[in-house]
Amino acid sequence: IEQTFSIIKPNAMKKNAIGDIVSMFEANGLKIAAAKITVLTADKAGEFYAEHKARPFFGELVSFMTSGPVMLMCLQGEGAVLKNREIMGATDPKKANAGTIRSKFGDNVGENAVHGSDSVESAARELALFFEKHEICNV
Ligand code: GTP
Ligand code: MG
Repeated sequence: IEQTFSIIKPNAMKKNAIGDIVSMFEANGLKIAAAKITVLTADKAGEFYAEHKARPFFGELVSFMTSGPVMLMCLQGEGAVLKNREIMGATDPKKANAGTIRSKFGDNVGENAVHGSDSVESAARELALFFEKHEICNV
């Protein structure tokens, strides 16, 4: 069964939105196979966002992602990667469809409430960055 990696970003954590966001995953057939709450180091956030290193917003992105606790999750379900992207909505909350996580809890294109892997390959890389194999349960 397909797995994807999800992060509830610091701005959504501050809004006490864990319950609402997890409810949206569960209501759409995604199960939580692993979860932890932590504060990312700049090294780890930089490694996670390595593909964006050359972008002008990279520094801002790392400082936001390390600004407070995040919740890291493995989501499991049929077509989990695409399904999660649909539930999240567009990167820019202003462009995200009504009812999506980013439309409800995003503040701007940087502080957009959640991350979700963009492919099965990215999901495998990202999950390995943050979870040991034994921490992910086959739910
Ligand atoms: P992720 O699921 O977080 O990877 O978002 P995405 O795949 O929808 O977008 P993308 O991979 O292009 O960008 C990764 C992240 O960089 C976004 O989620 C934003 O948090 C951040 N980002 C993208 N564009 C901007 C920008 O113009 N300014 C800032 N500050 N952050 C940006
Ligand atoms: Mg991306």
